[in-house]
Amino acid sequence: MKQNTCAVISGIGSYVPSKRVSNDDLAKLVDTSDEWIYSHTGIKNRHIADEKEATSDLAVKAAERALEKAGCPVSEVDMILVATATPDYLGFPSTACIVQDRIGAENAAAMDIVAACTGFIYGLETARVFIETGTYRNVLVIGAEVLSKITDWKDRNTCVLFGDGAGAALVSAQAAETSMKESLKRGILSSYLASYGKDAEVLLRPAGGTRVPFIPGTTPPEDLCLRMNGRKVYTFAVSVLGKTIETLLAKTGLSLQDIKYIVPHQANVRIIEACAKRLDIPLDKFFLNIKEFANTSSASIPIALTDMEQRGLLHPGDLILTVGFGGGLTYGGNLLYW
Ligand code: UT7
Repeated sequence: MKQNTCAVISGIGSYVPSKRVSNDDLAKLVDTSDEWIYSHTGIKNRHIADEKEATSDLAVKAAERALEKAGCPVSEVDMILVATATPDYLGFPSTACIVQDRIGAENAAAMDIVAACTGFIYGLETARVFIETGTYRNVLVIGAEVLSKITDWKDRNTCVLFGDGAGAALVSAQAAETSMKESLKRGILSSYLASYGKDAEVLLRPAGGTRVPFIPGTTPPEDLCLRMNGRKVYTFAVSVLGKTIETLLAKTGLSLQDIKYIVPHQANVRIIEACAKRLDIPLDKFFLNIKEFANTSSASIPIALTDMEQRGLLHPGDLILTVGFGGGLTYGGNLLYW
């Protein structure tokens, strides 16, 4: 049955810390080089939060920009979803509650989404469901990370890959009669969310939770940091990116030609190239800005969307496909009319 209400991205914004760290800077910390990092990942720079900046600080700035762009008073925000793998605090309070207070969203429910790099995709779909069921009218979806604070800066296998940043989208209810007219379609059309917990250990923070609690003087500090089996994640990523794109197209009866841009999680250019080759998709259909920001996990897709809007690449009615994968393992995508 066709819904009466569509969930439209009414405003988007991002924030990255001003401190910019190049590959050459990292080569002073670990045994690596600009040549290795760029040729294996497509990354040149990343932005790193300062000592006092936490995830909510970045999230608040992105959220305020998205609300301003949407022209939506903060009192009208019904729910705040913060997708993050690097919350201000372990477990509670949620980072979403910190953001709720800081932006003054006094009428909003707030909760975090833990789906690692796929978090923003999970967040958009959660917003769509709350809106299309008529429960809420404005849901603020934020992807925000300060990965630099859970990075082992002595591990060259991981420390060259990640950056800090935040992106936010206000998802708003719009009447289906006006938003889905043939001439100008708007809104989130369909999503595909999936998981593969069997390989949970290939990307994790080993200690600090209830499985391996932190014991002062005993827990090795690096066990509190992100640890990854890069090869396994790479193989998983190439396979599920393709599967997600094909699933979304099959679900909606659309074809690749209908899609203006694919906006992938920005983890590694080589992963995107392999997926493009496998599905015979021209590489320029994928929007990439990993060169400047590296992998910002749940923030990478909203940062990319904001970047695209600022470059004038997005127009109302354009069909956009987001696709991502990450810790959990999780994966999925959204198909939406801008
Ligand atoms: O958001 C999701 C999070 N994670 C990902 O998306 C990561 C997915 N995986 C990848 O992107 C790639 O697997 C990496 C970029 C992590 C690694 O690239 P690779 O081409 O798969 O390299 P590799 O792991 O097979 O390592 C090749 C060599 C190794 O040396 P040996 O054992 O062959 O002598 C590594 O020690 O490259 C070495 N290496 C490095 N060398 C210089 C690993 N990291 C570095 C480095 N600089 N930073």
